[in-house]
Amino acid sequence: MITVFRKEHFNAAHRLHNSNLSDEENETIYGKCNNEYYHGHNYELEVGVRGENDPVTGYVIDMKILSNLIKTHVLEPFDHKNLNEQVDEFKTLIPTAENIAVVIYNKLRPHIDSSKELLITLYETPRNYVTYAG
Ligand code: NI
Repeated sequence: MITVFRKEHFNAAHRLHNSNLSDEENETIYGKCNNEYYHGHNYELEVGVRGENDPVTGYVIDMKILSNLIKTHVLEPFDHKNLNEQVDEFKTLIPTAENIAVVIYNKLRPHIDSSKELLITLYETPRNYVTYAG
């Protein structure tokens, strides 16, 4: 089994806020990410596809195909967007790095051959990152 990775980047704004909690609780839990006027992050995304190397092509997945999938399903809808206001999934889901990684996974999963594993790693800052593999 081999894992191949494609790195991508997008900028997006968000606000972490749970309307079921008080303003004080939101401030305590989310700190600066609770800023009611939103703020941006430079997200770094790594998409990994793991599986057998195809004996004909020598590829796990054609990177042009993977790159185009990420462009269509992640970068175009997320880049330079306000995630809370402009991305449907986050109208009802708090756009934490965890939830963004799960949404990215769910958007890409139907387009990757079911014999392959999909691994999403999302850096919200150079030091804070999450990984999700379904
Ligand atoms: Ni934030």
